Amino acid sequence: MFDIHAPDHMQVWAAQADAIRVSGGVGWSEATGGYWVVVNYEDAVAAAKNWQVFSARHDPTGMDPRARGISIPPYEFPLILSESDPPRQQKLRLLEIPFFTPSKIKAQIPVVQANVERCLDAMQDRAEVDLFRDYAMPLVSLTSMALVGIEVARWQDYTLAAHRGGPSGSLDISQDTERVHAMLLDMAQERRANPRGDIASALVTGEVMGEKLRDEEVVSMLSALVLGGFDTTSSLVTSALIWLSENRECHADLVSDDALAANAVHEFLRMWPPSLGGARNVVADTVLGGQEMKDGDRVFLSWAAANRDPQVFADPHSIRLDRLNASDNLAFGMGVHRCLGMELARLMARLAVQTLLRRHPHFRVLRERCVPYRSKGLVAGWSAVPAMLS
Ligand code: HEM
Repeated sequence: MFDIHAPDHMQVWAAQADAIRVSGGVGWSEATGGYWVVVNYEDAVAAAKNWQVFSARHDPTGMDPRARGISIPPYEFPLILSESDPPRQQKLRLLEIPFFTPSKIKAQIPVVQANVERCLDAMQDRAEVDLFRDYAMPLVSLTSMALVGIEVARWQDYTLAAHRGGPSGSLDISQDTERVHAMLLDMAQERRANPRGDIASALVTGEVMGEKLRDEEVVSMLSALVLGGFDTTSSLVTSALIWLSENRECHADLVSDDALAANAVHEFLRMWPPSLGGARNVVADTVLGGQEMKDGDRVFLSWAAANRDPQVFADPHSIRLDRLNASDNLAFGMGVHRCLGMELARLMARLAVQTLLRRHPHFRVLRERCVPYRSKGLVAGWSAVPAMLS
């Protein structure tokens, strides 16, 4: 049975998804209260775009028992942006969009490059390093925290909590999440008094449908940026480096050809999407992929399975760095909730890969000692990636 929380989910999900595909493309799982599993690309896109029927709303009070958000089981702390529907969701998103425009991301190139070099400098003289803990995690933390407006000096407070407390961490998440939320609340209150040009200030000063956001709403928005971008982007960087350690013939081309490196990042996202899928609430009787669904049902849109749909991606279980449609992958979702940080995440990954290959052409991951994230159903990745740099 397809169960995103089964201990062997990472080993079996692709074969289970292929079996569902052969029998029509939509399966039923009895796990965690029961949910439909959508594996075909076309169906996943159709549902993700149809928010009127496939709602992301989360009502933690239980007043609307259908509104259970994007996680199975529902998150303890609702994400007010990801777990609301238009028009409110679009208004909330507008507050953050100005920080993720192409020109803003372009302006981040020297910042990200400097962060990459800084992390590599810190590892320079060590015989063995951990590409997750010493490279991907600090790089992602330094970059995204500066953007959000968090004091960079505190990055370890936030990231360690994110990795322990996020979907990848232990099940006992409440303590760490509460600690991060308390830090974010302090920051929000400080920005109300002294606004600056960062996302935190835009959230406390901006209005949504004529009203200012409440403190807990600002914290939820900031928390999604802090906790949502770390595990995922670290996962992308480490999955890429593990594969590259075992596939060396392309290294020189990736270093010298930015376009190929950017396409390679799309292909790594297609093959190993850090966020494996997202849930939706069915809020009207409907038919998806030939399957009847009832108002009140839950659906899991498997980005990972859609990314291996042979109707869209030829030879889907293989990596092809020059795949022409690699960028069509659904690793960042689709529709109104499509990831706001995707350009930034791809930029971090490309520069992390290219710079490591250039500075340490003989790097080697000690594959047998790599450790995957503990709970892998929603976010998959690596929490230990030991490697030799020379
Ligand atoms: C490789 C890294 C990343 C992956 C794979 C990823 C994946 C995703 C996915 C799949 C969604 C849509 C969820 C859904 O439809 O249910 C999403 C939403 C979002 N992501 Fe990312 N993400 C990444 C990095 C980031 C970063 C670095 C940031 C910001 C600094 C970010 C900010 C957001 C936000 C704000 C949303 C909510 C958008 C909305 O609901 O309107 N993400 N992400």
